[in-house]
Amino acid sequence: MAKGLGGWVVMVLLMGVLESASGLGVNWGTISINPLPPGYVVKLLQANGIKKVKLFDADFDVLRSLAGTDIEVMVAAPNDMLSRLAYTDGAADDWVKENVTAYNFQGGVNIRWVAVGNEPFLTGYNGSYLNSTLPALRNIVNALQKAGQADTVKAIIPFNADILDGAALPSQTRFKVEYLDQILPMLQIFNNTNAPFSVNLYPFISKYQNPDFPLDFAFFMGTTSPVNDPPNVYNNALDASLDALIAALRAAGYPNMPVLLGEIGWPTDGNEFATVALAGQYNQQLINHLQSNVGTPLRPGVFTEFYMFGLLDENIKSILPGPYERHWGMFFYDGVAKYDLNLAAGTNAAVQTLQSAEYPPYMSAQYCVLNTFADMTNLTQNVDFACSRSDCTPLYPGSSCAFLTPEQNASYSFNAYFQFQNQDPNACNFQGLAKITAENPSVGTCRFPIGLVKYTPAKNPNSGSSPGVRNLSTVLVVTVFTLLLNTLFCFV
Ligand SMILES: *[C@@H]1O[C@H](CO)[C@@H](O)[C@H](O)[C@H]1NC(C)=O
Ligand SMILES: *[C@@H]1O[C@H](CO)[C@@H](O)[C@H](O)[C@H]1NC(C)=O
Ligand SMILES: *[C@@H]1O[C@H](CO)[C@@H](O)[C@H](O)[C@H]1NC(C)=O
Ligand SMILES: *[C@@H]1O[C@H](CO)[C@@H](O)[C@H](O)[C@H]1NC(C)=O
Ligand SMILES: *[C@@H]1O[C@H](CO)[C@@H](O)[C@H](O)[C@H]1NC(C)=O
Ligand SMILES: *[C@@H]1O[C@H](CO)[C@@H](O)[C@H](O)[C@H]1NC(C)=O
Ligand SMILES: *[C@@H]1O[C@H](CO)[C@@H](O)[C@H](O)[C@H]1NC(C)=O
Repeated sequence: MAKGLGGWVVMVLLMGVLESASGLGVNWGTISINPLPPGYVVKLLQANGIKKVKLFDADFDVLRSLAGTDIEVMVAAPNDMLSRLAYTDGAADDWVKENVTAYNFQGGVNIRWVAVGNEPFLTGYNGSYLNSTLPALRNIVNALQKAGQADTVKAIIPFNADILDGAALPSQTRFKVEYLDQILPMLQIFNNTNAPFSVNLYPFISKYQNPDFPLDFAFFMGTTSPVNDPPNVYNNALDASLDALIAALRAAGYPNMPVLLGEIGWPTDGNEFATVALAGQYNQQLINHLQSNVGTPLRPGVFTEFYMFGLLDENIKSILPGPYERHWGMFFYDGVAKYDLNLAAGTNAAVQTLQSAEYPPYMSAQYCVLNTFADMTNLTQNVDFACSRSDCTPLYPGSSCAFLTPEQNASYSFNAYFQFQNQDPNACNFQGLAKITAENPSVGTCRFPIGLVKYTPAKNPNSGSSPGVRNLSTVLVVTVFTLLLNTLFCFV
């Protein structure tokens, strides 16, 4: 009787979980000077109830920090590894062994996906990965099968939307003809392994590249310029893009292939349309739209798994695409939330607003600023020097610090460099133009950063070594225990 009751309770709970199922995950990129250490990031994910995380490699220290949690993880083989995975005998088997199978034990890591490359057909790569991606995918899929992982771990390729031909209407969209030789066999592999087609979509970049792109079409609130694609009408860029992909999949013979949205989001700085207010609004409407499972006109009522881009700002990412590139985080570099966001919107779970990281490991509360009594002769050269070796994107036109006076502007750049140099006193000189201060020079929306303490990630003790060394589960249990001890000592 008691047992039966327990069963009911479990079933009811399970039903609740299913009804409010969330497809929300986050991209965790680490292209930063002194990024928030993995232990803090995992706590941040947990505090925010985030259950899926997408990585850009298979870093041991990051995976170690995810061990023992129920967070579903996507590991990745970066583009520069594709050629080895494609053409070197056994490379894919070794990759799977070291970066998937090794974490598969009680208390290990819940790896669910392997991303093979990242946007490998991006036009900007000039076809560098065009030939190697398909054989790399094939080898990884075979390696997962050989390792007995194929039922739980799926291989995907996160594509950029520029694999599509950019037809005027969603229904007319096809894969670019020049990619078909590669894409068709990939589709067959995805179909055989029950893997989704993965794509990254960026309505913000449409707006950035074409200022005439109507902002309300990027958003989800109805539009002054809907796209008419009879019998369907599109009021938002996301549905139009998803259906463009679905039309291409249909035309290629895979009308029901699921779609995984690998990256989607809105940045908060570096451009006039990249603001905290717009990003907060966009992400809220996006989450609401996707989690309420309304689907798209071509796939009504369909659940889409999606990964927000991104979790944290990354202050040394290339700004070739644009200065906004370092500001995609829902959280600043230090894990401080940028806006209110209900991550449970669209589900029937309780409202869940963003929680900032607890006690980020900051360096001392000190800044490097312009000494206003100094001789200003060489100011420009010194500001340029500081900015060329740090992150000054918040000073760009339309950005959060664009309104600073020239003096405050100089202070911002000196401080950016000083923090990148781990607050080395010698990095706050600039020919006598600068001085260290404890007074926070932040003004309004313009936040002067204090860097995080340098952290040395643990290395995989088994990487590249012969069998016979301690196995990974032992290593992880020991390190997790050490981490726990460290945490305990922090509080005494
Ligand atoms: C596993 O992934 C790591 C991190 O991405 C990489 O450096 C390493 O070479 C991979 N291991 C193998 C055997 O390919
Ligand atoms: C692609 O080609 C352009 C123009 O030839 C060049 O500037 C760029 O560096 C190339 N990019 C890569 C990744 O090879
Ligand atoms: C890819 O293969 C094609 C056809 O064999 C060849 O012309 C091209 O140079 C190759 N590209 C690379 C980057 O290896
Ligand atoms: C895709 O997989 C489904 C289910 O396994 C199968 O019925 C269908 O024929 C496959 N499609 C193609 C084009 O191979
Ligand atoms: C300006 O820079 C030049 C070249 O580095 C240096 O010789 C000169 O002393 C500097 N002037 C001041 C006022 O610091
Ligand atoms: C502030 O610095 C940035 C980057 O060096 C520069 O582009 C901008 O013109 C400067 N603004 C002022 C008001 O000096
Ligand atoms: C690794 O070590 C654990 C604990 O000592 C043991 O239970 C497990 O079987 C070992 N795994 C392998 C693959 O040797």
